[in-house]
Amino acid sequence: MATVAELLIEGQARLRASGSESPRLDAELLLGHVIGLERTAIIAHPTAAVGDGAAAQYREAIARREAGEPVAYIRGLKEFFGLAFSVDRRALIPRPETERLVELAEAEIVARLTAAPRPAGAPPIEVVDIGTGSGVAAIALAAALSKRGMLHEVRLLATDVSQDAIALARENAVAHAVADRIDFAVADLLPGAVGQFEVVLANLPYVRGDAMAGLPRATSFEPRLALDGGLDGLSVIGRLLERLPSDLARDGVALLEIGGDQGEAIVAEVARRLPGWSCRVELDLGHLPRVARVEREARP
Ligand SMILES: C[S@@+](CC[C@H](N)C(=O)[O-])C[C@H]1O[C@@H](n2cnc3c(N)ncnc32)[C@H](O)[C@@H]1O
Repeated sequence: MATVAELLIEGQARLRASGSESPRLDAELLLGHVIGLERTAIIAHPTAAVGDGAAAQYREAIARREAGEPVAYIRGLKEFFGLAFSVDRRALIPRPETERLVELAEAEIVARLTAAPRPAGAPPIEVVDIGTGSGVAAIALAAALSKRGMLHEVRLLATDVSQDAIALARENAVAHAVADRIDFAVADLLPGAVGQFEVVLANLPYVRGDAMAGLPRATSFEPRLALDGGLDGLSVIGRLLERLPSDLARDGVALLEIGGDQGEAIVAEVARRLPGWSCRVELDLGHLPRVARVEREARP
């Protein structure tokens, strides 16, 4: 029987040769996945013996990773906003940058609920997550509001043009016990006649069409629909901007994730499509443009 350390050395060597940028981490995550232990437990017990069956499964997982498949799809799991989400090829693997979008949406909703406490019987704040994918943003937001005891004051809708993604998002909502607080809809951006939203959040595809071929190999396992933002990267987001005058409430805010090099482009796009509206670009932890905050009028 091989030990943990021997299997990690073997896996790391194979993954390094196949071009993985994080061969050691990948090997640790995959061995932990097969054995059913956290990565930290794997690292802490290098001399532990691994059964032949588990070692064979690990080698199969390493082979999938060698072929370029992302670790998250092999594990079927990705952490986001402190929660574990099921992920598979039906939807994009959530990226850490998108946590900024959730933080801003949560702060916006909390500010609205605390600035002016709503009278008893007031309708809930209507929120929509457009292009929900695996559901991470809507579900993480619901979980965060639930912790604050505010979820009952909010109604959430999550949409995606992909039926497969919506099916996965529903499964994740059930797993996180918020399925009764989120409506799901298959729609191009938004279903017709759903009323107006106070908070719109969206991580829609924003990769420029000509940059698609240069993406890392792992992204070829993800749905193209989740990444390809058309000629300038902003074609789907641009169509959403056109919907805001009718679908965003008068004092509503739209929070739109963008690429780190799209700060100036989104400001220009909002000015062109929504004259008189304001667009402020929020930065991420790496000080890169990450979320465009679009409103009817500039606030002080
Ligand atoms: C970049 S992925 C983001 C998924 C998820 N929100 C996340 O952050 O992990 C974009 C998502 O938008 C969806 N999408 C693309 N075009 C759309 C459209 N016209 N209407 C609704 N959803 C769309 C894709 O299917 C995909 O799930």
